Amino acid sequence: MLKNILNYAHYLLQQTVTKGETVIDATCGNGNDTLFLSEHVGDKGHVLAFDIQEQAIDNTKQKLAENQSSNVTLILDSHENINSYIDPKLAGHLGGAIFNLGYLPKSDKKVITKGESTTTAIETILPKLKKNGLVVLVIYHGHDGGKDEKNAVLNYVIHLDQKKYKVLRYGFINQKNDPPFIVAIQKK
Ligand SMILES: C[S@@+](CC[C@H](N)C(=O)[O-])C[C@H]1O[C@@H](n2cnc3c(N)ncnc32)[C@H](O)[C@@H]1O
Repeated sequence: MLKNILNYAHYLLQQTVTKGETVIDATCGNGNDTLFLSEHVGDKGHVLAFDIQEQAIDNTKQKLAENQSSNVTLILDSHENINSYIDPKLAGHLGGAIFNLGYLPKSDKKVITKGESTTTAIETILPKLKKNGLVVLVIYHGHDGGKDEKNAVLNYVIHLDQKKYKVLRYGFINQKNDPPFIVAIQKK
């Protein structure tokens, strides 16, 4: 069956992320993806979760506590600064990353992810990925500013060298109201 967008994003990561790995949630928001990654990498794994809003960090902290997750480092900073938080020894070993773009649900719709910082973060993460590792982007673009980010991200990913990366787009083309879609980048 065709999976919905969020299920497919998780499904893709489940195919490549293994127990014990370090992974990144670049936009932790309410913590749904962070919890998923935390459970998937297990006690010996590690999740680095970023958000620029304290509300998001608090929501994620609470969700993790309710689920007894203790393998996550929450970072109140923009994902464009990811490099400052990654151990250089991880280069070539990062298990994967997810970006859920847009704004924090039920919060200020003006605080949104932006094309420039998103592409900077992707560019930082790609060299650190393991072989066959994935960066999964869930692209919401119906809000103010969403189209600019969508275009910037697509313009960046379609130019990635096909000898080094496979780039997939997955989405439903008969849905109304700017449905979200996935871009997944796999390192060869
Ligand atoms: C769609 S929400 C993420 C939803 C989240 N993955 C979940 O499972 O609930 C997008 C989040 O990106 C955050 N954000 C915006 N710009 C950011 C940036 N430069 N770095 C990190 N997070 C950012 C927002 O604060 C918001 O919480």
